[in-house]
Amino acid sequence: MFTSEVYTNRRKALKGLINSGIAVFMGNVDSPMNYSGNTLHFRQDSSFLYFFGLDMPGLTGVIDFNDGKDYIFGDDIDIEDIIWMGPQPSMKENAAQVGVENVLPVKELTGFLQKALQSGRKLHYLPMYRGETKILFESFSGIRIADQPDKISVELIKAVVSLRNIKDKFEIEEIEKAAAIGHLMHVTSMKMAKPGVLEREIAGAIEGIALAHGAMTSFPVILSQNGETLHNHDHSQYLQKGRLMVTDAGAETMMHYASDFTRTIPVGGKFSQKQKEIYQIVLNANNEATKAIAPGVTYQSVHLLAAKVIATGLKEIGLMQGDVDEAVKAGAHAMFFPHGLGHMLGLDVHDMENLGENYVGYDEEVSRIQQFGTAYLRLGRRLQPGFVLTNEPGIYFIPALIDLWKKENKFNEFINYNKVEEYIGFGGIRLEDNILVTETGCRMIGQRIPVTVEEVEKTMEA
Ligand code: GLY
Ligand code: MN
Ligand code: MN
Repeated sequence: MFTSEVYTNRRKALKGLINSGIAVFMGNVDSPMNYSGNTLHFRQDSSFLYFFGLDMPGLTGVIDFNDGKDYIFGDDIDIEDIIWMGPQPSMKENAAQVGVENVLPVKELTGFLQKALQSGRKLHYLPMYRGETKILFESFSGIRIADQPDKISVELIKAVVSLRNIKDKFEIEEIEKAAAIGHLMHVTSMKMAKPGVLEREIAGAIEGIALAHGAMTSFPVILSQNGETLHNHDHSQYLQKGRLMVTDAGAETMMHYASDFTRTIPVGGKFSQKQKEIYQIVLNANNEATKAIAPGVTYQSVHLLAAKVIATGLKEIGLMQGDVDEAVKAGAHAMFFPHGLGHMLGLDVHDMENLGENYVGYDEEVSRIQQFGTAYLRLGRRLQPGFVLTNEPGIYFIPALIDLWKKENKFNEFINYNKVEEYIGFGGIRLEDNILVTETGCRMIGQRIPVTVEEVEKTMEA
């Protein structure tokens, strides 16, 4: 946990943005896996963590914007809990660690909220993503689950996003720690990727590293020889020499800050000439994007720059043709690069995605481009110092997409389908780094994971 001032200051900053009403931050509860006593690993809600810091189930944080008071509703544990879990601090002691003096039992929350609603006060709350939370919130506030989405506070969303989007030095230190764990996970993955190894042996080993060094992985590990499937969680194949293997994985620190890296390696340790050519295009796109990241630049323009680097490289080896600018404008590159260049990173791997991607990654000035491919760009807005984001271009040969577009004669002027068909079975390549926007430009978070052809091959040799 950070010091109590960090949480007090965050709530103070929020109070500076909203003048009236009551904000309710629902913490998460334990969630059963297959019977109620066998729960999933507990993960606290990230906005609750940001403002109230306590990493335990069953709590609700409340901020009264009119009188400036903060509350935590939570119950002290009883003797039964002590028998199973050992001695625990009181709720009063817990709350003091995050600078909150007003601690009330959960049973008082309903009366507290009902009283506020009856006196006509505005209840500010964020979108909820777990069934348990929606049910509990209905019981506390009387707002039926079906009606909850209509009454979400956009004012609160915008205020929370404006604070959480800018990472302070304590948060950056945490993300650096997550990056160090991620580095170890990826180097291990590279070293383990020998022909005959089962994908899940590597997936399991790197998940174990995340658990041993922090809280957990920041999302379920993506690791596959079939890297053309963007988020492939099937780890059932034996690695074959000469195939490419994509590993997209990151860690959460004990304080739940995330890292999110992707590397692509040749099984057996040596890239073929064909693989090197595509790999180098993706690496160029990644490097050019990093060079362009600076305050005042829109990430939408950096995404389009990466798309141009990809289209230029694919044209050079005969997979694309025609005018590159026109091809990117039309969206032809998206057959190879069908996703966005990146997203915000913080307490969530896709930071604050539950609050609404458009509030986090876009604003009044920059709105989402609806074209296939670029429509998946989660972050488009003008960059500011303190943003932490991912840079993750890729090139994929997705048989179903190639077939479909070819049949539709889509972008015949920009795509050389005959040549593209020679790459069916190639797989996919993605290279993902984590970047901090600074006052003058940007810097990489953590020591860069081996990324050049030479670095990767050397790492795999050892
Ligand atoms: N790990 C999912 C992503 O890279 O966005
Ligand atoms: Mn990733
Ligand atoms: Mn990512």
